[in-house]
Amino acid sequence: MLNGKRKICVLPGDGIGPEIIDSALAVLNHVASHAGIAVTVSREPIGGEAIDAHGTPLPERTLQSCLSSDAVLLGAVGGPRWDSNPPHLRPEKGLLGIRKALGLYGNLRPVKQQPTLLECSSLKKEIVAGVDLLVVRELTGGLYFGEPQGISGEAGSEVGLNSMLYHRHEIERIAHKAFELARRRRKKVTSVDKANVLEVSQLWRKVVEEVHQDYPDVELNHLLVDNCAMQLVLRPTQFDVLLTENMFGDILSDIGGVLTGSIGTLPSASVGDGPALYEPIHGSAPDIAGKNIANPIGTIESVAMMFEYSFDRADLARQITDAIDLTLADGYRTADLARSGGKIVGTLEFTNEIRQRLN
Ligand code: NAD
Ligand code: IPM
Ligand code: MN
Repeated sequence: MLNGKRKICVLPGDGIGPEIIDSALAVLNHVASHAGIAVTVSREPIGGEAIDAHGTPLPERTLQSCLSSDAVLLGAVGGPRWDSNPPHLRPEKGLLGIRKALGLYGNLRPVKQQPTLLECSSLKKEIVAGVDLLVVRELTGGLYFGEPQGISGEAGSEVGLNSMLYHRHEIERIAHKAFELARRRRKKVTSVDKANVLEVSQLWRKVVEEVHQDYPDVELNHLLVDNCAMQLVLRPTQFDVLLTENMFGDILSDIGGVLTGSIGTLPSASVGDGPALYEPIHGSAPDIAGKNIANPIGTIESVAMMFEYSFDRADLARQITDAIDLTLADGYRTADLARSGGKIVGTLEFTNEIRQRLN
């Protein structure tokens, strides 16, 4: 059981980041205070906001604050304002930097279809009904971090380069994570790769099969990433745990937003050996920023994951997800979920409705 103080570093970031973080903090503070948990929040800049204020997407102070916290909560980073910056001065580098510095090699992205939102998906109801899967995305290796990388050469004949590479130990630890998580679910892992073409995937597949020897009670299948993208919209209920490398996991998990009805509903936990980081899977949504229409569910569910994984309080996590479900069942919707009708309300009002259903 949790007792004493908990320090949370909050990184609101850019675009809708500050709006959804305010919602999530309202829920976090409510739940923590009712449970008698003293939470200290320190708010630090990251991404575009940090570039503007401090000339770097990941200030040292932000990093130190994260390292000395029990958990980190992040909104989103990025936006058109910084899109033509050089690579090291892009907001996204701040996010990649914090993931790497905290050693967050495992990104858990649950995708669970809510029966009340069946009408919200652009896919047929019978396809998405019952979807309950978990993307286990490797987060500190692969194409995002492999060296060499960069843009070189003379103007007019430049070369852009990124390298997809994995060390055996990186594949082993994320595979263990996926099999362990599968044991708590329906005991089925689908490892996604491009082993028909890429050597890095051939090693991935070999090592995943070796790690699987330790988990004979878990079923293992392999799927090529192009087929996986198709299967996710064709028959998504076939999946339990999807294990995959960094960029494949990034791309495939956005499809989750089509399955649930909106990317705004999807949370994530990034875990390693130190403090974990919690963030929705969507971006800074510059097209809707500042309008009080962003869906805060993904960020609030990320707080629920924080209670479960970092604070060992599955009961409080459940309290939060129940309140969200009740709010939806009572017909409240943010604009992105308007397809199913209901009472369309703004971010603040929607958050209030959730808060009222917390106890
Ligand atoms: P995005 O996820 O920000 O937006 C895609 C679409 O989904 C947009 O139409 C947006 O309005 C909608 N959307 C996203 N979140 C929503 C929410 N909570 N409620 C309602 N609608 C929502 O992706 P993008 O437009 O490709 O990227 C915008 C910026 O965000 C880019 O700079 C990108 O690098 C960055 N990004 C950051 C993260 C992160 O911080 N983790 C993740 C993805 C993208
Ligand atoms: C995500 C985002 C990030 C990623 C970007 C912003 C670095 O798309 O968290 O899904 O690609 O990991
Ligand atoms: Mn993404």
